[in-house]
Amino acid sequence: MNHFITSLAYLIGSTTFIMGLKMMGNPKSARNGNMVAAVGMVIAIFATIFFHDNTVSPIVYGLIFGAIGLGTVMGWMTAKQVQMTKMPELVSLFNGMGGACAALIGLMEYHHNIGKTGALLPIVAGLIIGSVSFSGSIIAFLKLNGTMNQPVRLPSYNMLNNAVMLGVLAFGAWVIMASPDNSAILFALFASALVYGILFTIPIGGADMPVVISLLNSFTGLAAAFGGFLYDNKIMLTGGILVGSAGTLLTLVMCKAMNRPLSNVIFGAFGGGAVAAGTSSEKGSIKDISVSDLATLMNYSKKVIIVPGYGLAVAQAQHVIHELETILEERGVEVKYAMHPVAGRMPGHMNVLLAESNVSYDKLVEMEDINPEFASTDVVLVVGANDVVNPAAKNDPSSPIYGMPILDVENAKNIVVNKRSMNAGYAGIDNDLFYNPKNSMLFGDAKGVLTKLVAELKTMD
Ligand code: TAP
Repeated sequence: MNHFITSLAYLIGSTTFIMGLKMMGNPKSARNGNMVAAVGMVIAIFATIFFHDNTVSPIVYGLIFGAIGLGTVMGWMTAKQVQMTKMPELVSLFNGMGGACAALIGLMEYHHNIGKTGALLPIVAGLIIGSVSFSGSIIAFLKLNGTMNQPVRLPSYNMLNNAVMLGVLAFGAWVIMASPDNSAILFALFASALVYGILFTIPIGGADMPVVISLLNSFTGLAAAFGGFLYDNKIMLTGGILVGSAGTLLTLVMCKAMNRPLSNVIFGAFGGGAVAAGTSSEKGSIKDISVSDLATLMNYSKKVIIVPGYGLAVAQAQHVIHELETILEERGVEVKYAMHPVAGRMPGHMNVLLAESNVSYDKLVEMEDINPEFASTDVVLVVGANDVVNPAAKNDPSSPIYGMPILDVENAKNIVVNKRSMNAGYAGIDNDLFYNPKNSMLFGDAKGVLTKLVAELKTMD
């Protein structure tokens, strides 16, 4: 009977994971998708605790529920308090915890399986991959929160990293084959995998961390799947495979949207704190626009497209941008948002941010669909976005972002870019759009400037 209940709970869990993932593919259903998958996970966890093994003592139950209680409170509080711009940090920390769990399973289970090569394979694989994911995620977290904000490049780091990786793999293979009954050896393997995780992550620029986190996330999934093999636990296996494959796909999608091969993210220096190319006089001059002139321009427009970027999230300007949209629509102006797939710093960053301020989903238009609309647009307002509207991606084969698909904002009748300065964005390069005769710059913090714009529009008939 107990076996039947756990099997049923795992089937429900697996199904809800798949349904949840599918629902996360659309901003409308994403929140519910997350909830559906979480409910499935709770069912699977409680079925395991109560029906997997009848011989568990009350003390062990106490420890289990103590740990669950502590983890729930800490996870809930951090997730509630975290700002949208800090979300990648939180994801990397949570991912690191998953990796650590997989590594701990390996450390614990090894001694129960000495001499059994078949069982040692998933144990050692989970131990190595989980440890790499744990230490790599912690470095990613430190880079994202600014504690380690420069890439650290040891001499010949690519060769060094590859040598360490091969060394760890060879060490792991030997442990599986020789199966030594020695804790010190197992801890040496654990430590060497942790060192590799650090070496793998430290040379990568802080700005490339979202891609790396997604990759480490797929490692954690793989490590959990090895745990599933070991325990013959279907839900761990399904969950691990789903996380592993979703993480891998997400990594590839991000790389594709930035038009950079994964090897370039891991071994290259793009986004690693490169400085802006600087403004050159040959490019022409920069035009400013005042808030009141922009308010007049928008008030008499038929169609306005807003391009949200990373700066919008930094400024927390999502509510005021919705207010701007509402006031323009009340005056008969059609307003849409142009959503670039890698605007911001993580997948879906802008969609989630705008959803938070109740922007209607049908106003968020994907890049392929909005690009043909710019030609019939009176004003494009670019808010805290830079690389995703940089024409160098189309015109300059020497540019590091050449080939990255961008929003064709230069086709609009008027372009207005809001940012605080002429500083570069994530890719660290200058943007010729700012020198386009149709473009005007609206300098200032997005929230402050947009608040003034809304106030100005309110004074107009
Ligand atoms: P960016 O190119 O990074 O530009 C953001 C701009 O916002 C900056 O130039 C900055 O200029 C401005 N800004 C910052 N704070 C501001 C504030 N308080 N008010 C107004 N403006 C502010 O951003 P993007 O156009 O959204 O492009 C995203 C970049 O991130 C792409 O290169 C993409 O490849 C990369 N990336 C994205 C992802 C995902 S999945 N989204 C993952 C990895 C990498 P000032 O300093 O002058 O204000």
